[in-house]
Amino acid sequence: MQRIISRSRLLSRGLDSHSRRCFSQLLSQRADGDVNIPKMPPFDYTPPPYEGPSSAEILQKRREFLSPSMFYFYNNPLHVIDGKQQYLFDENGRRYLDAFGGIATVCCGHCHPDVVEAILNQTKRLQHSTIVYLHHAIAEFAEALASTLPGDLKVVFFTNSGTEANELAMMIARLYTGSHDMISLRNAYHGNAAGTMGATAQSNWKFNVVQSGVHHAMNPDPYRGIFGSDGEKYAKDVQDLIDYGTCGQVAGFIAEAIQGVGGILELAPGYLPAVYDSTRNVGGLCIADEIQSGFARTGSHFWGFEAHGVVPDIVTMAKGIGNGLPIGAVVTTPEIAQVLTQRSYFNTFGGNPVCTAGGLAVLRVLEKEKLQENACTVGSYLKKRLKSLQEKHENEDEKKGGARRSPLMLASGACQAPLVLAC
Ligand SMILES: Cc1ncc(COP(=O)(O)O)c(C=O)c1O
Repeated sequence: MQRIISRSRLLSRGLDSHSRRCFSQLLSQRADGDVNIPKMPPFDYTPPPYEGPSSAEILQKRREFLSPSMFYFYNNPLHVIDGKQQYLFDENGRRYLDAFGGIATVCCGHCHPDVVEAILNQTKRLQHSTIVYLHHAIAEFAEALASTLPGDLKVVFFTNSGTEANELAMMIARLYTGSHDMISLRNAYHGNAAGTMGATAQSNWKFNVVQSGVHHAMNPDPYRGIFGSDGEKYAKDVQDLIDYGTCGQVAGFIAEAIQGVGGILELAPGYLPAVYDSTRNVGGLCIADEIQSGFARTGSHFWGFEAHGVVPDIVTMAKGIGNGLPIGAVVTTPEIAQVLTQRSYFNTFGGNPVCTAGGLAVLRVLEKEKLQENACTVGSYLKKRLKSLQEKHENEDEKKGGARRSPLMLASGACQAPLVLAC
């Protein structure tokens, strides 16, 4: 595990002097120099024939027996049967390159043998026990996770999902500070339970139910925001919210370093340090939602917040933590964690042996297969190619008097590219 840290620090170190740039600028900069052209990993797998119910039968059952809120992609929804490494296979054995990863979750490839082996071995010995008994898997995984985080962030509470992790983080902030008001960003997604739906700030993900105590600050959107990439100017809005929208004290500030559901949108550089100062000046805690941006996904750093030169008080994680296992976590300092002892706090499945054994295997695979470096190489290359598309189409747009677009807005807008590509 120590090696994970040293590698991520090594990668970070070269980039810190450029900390006023977005992740993608850091990555594209690498791409301009010595570019490693990414190569597809070797692949030699043919899934066994599928003999189960057809897509039409499944769709019929979904319509009859599952919540009508469950939507699907594409007019002819994909019926996924097998997953191996970077590929998915449908019922006819047709192969797809998976650029979606089960909503940014499968971080070391589908059915990675090391992760599967860890899950199977643990499942055969003990599938469930709860945290009222001792088990080595939860202790080992907590220690390994803590070793990836800076400062005093070393106390872990496991949950089953990202929503649960953010709910817990917000409650901890409220308990620790004795304040109720939270600040989150417009265009954020933090979950869909009572508290987190309040922190989420996209109307299509918000129901018309009571969501109290969260103020949504102007989004430091470097592409469409009114201050461009000047993070400090956007940060003033948080101070205004504190001064005019609260009693002058807040429980905390929560943000993703890269807004995932909001469109893979990076926060303008310089924003987080200024907002962390404003929040801490009035006694609030700073929460980094690393549910999408964590676990080496950005390539430049292991955690998204690291590129902004800040150290949060609480970090929440899920998705990539288990490569598809239902697990999340809240990590904070020993002092802050103490507030949960005021009452009994408990989660039946959180930290169960199977999920924590699998999570530890995921961390080891990230390290063994240098997947942060891989994300950097592949991300740099993709960024470079998208950038050249952006420049090409920006010239065309300019001629027509159109607006500036980010490369990915261009890619999805112009091509309507599906996230799963048939190959
Ligand atoms: C940044 C972020 N936070 C929280 C969540 C909620 O996680 P979950 O769906 O596991 O409850 C998500 C889910 O997409 C997310 O992207």
